[in-house]
Amino acid sequence: MGAKPELRSRRLLLRRWRDDDRTPFAALNADPAVMEHFPATLSRQESDALVDRIEAGFDDRGWGLWAVEVPDAAAFVGFVGLNPATFEAPFTPAVEIGWRLAREHWGNGYATEGALAALGFGFDTLALDEIVSFTTHANTRSRQVMEKLHMQHDSADDFENPNVPEGDPSRPHVLYRLDRHDWQRNPARAAR
Ligand SMILES: CC(C)(COP(=O)(O)OP(=O)(O)OC[C@H]1O[C@@H](n2cnc3c(N)ncnc32)[C@H](O)[C@@H]1OP(=O)(O)O)[C@@H](O)C(=O)NCCC(=O)NCCS
Repeated sequence: MGAKPELRSRRLLLRRWRDDDRTPFAALNADPAVMEHFPATLSRQESDALVDRIEAGFDDRGWGLWAVEVPDAAAFVGFVGLNPATFEAPFTPAVEIGWRLAREHWGNGYATEGALAALGFGFDTLALDEIVSFTTHANTRSRQVMEKLHMQHDSADDFENPNVPEGDPSRPHVLYRLDRHDWQRNPARAAR
């Protein structure tokens, strides 16, 4: 498709992945603080395989989980972007918005800023009807990003994530939704 591969926001460049990103990405995936709400940290090999899957998605579709750079400040801080949900649930098929940043880059508003650029791309360029986001009940930081984006949580949508093993405490998830109608009048959108 003819979609632009890069997005820009006030402070960020959301771009395709480079080989140089793999070492800092493996470091953040090995950090227990970053991976607190996932079943496990990732090995270097698992982290590289994730980059390969993300890049294959860009090759197929032209969009995905963008590598996030802060030009003139940090070459790679993590990812923010859109991803088709990889499992079946009552709300799928769906496009998910997600984020994962290195610990030292939390607390700057980068996840929310990048997510607004990704939502703009999803609704305005891809013309999606809805974008969802999901995480564990306890992942307050991620839920705060969803709430700053004015995504809506209905506990009737809460679900067990089939990608997480049964019995794992991070299997029960909350679902947040944003539809294109709400995006058009979203106060966060105007503040981009
Ligand atoms: C979830 C995650 C991306 C959130 O990162 P974050 O930096 O807290 O989120 P934001 O980008 O919205 O930044 C908000 C913080 O930046 C602060 N901030 C500083 N400057 C800011 C600015 N110019 N604009 C907006 N916020 C700013 C806010 O006050 C807020 O700080 P607080 O949390 O101490 O109140 C991060 O915690 C993470 O990578 N977690 C691990 C991976 C993960 O769980 N991902 C989600 C799985 S579903």
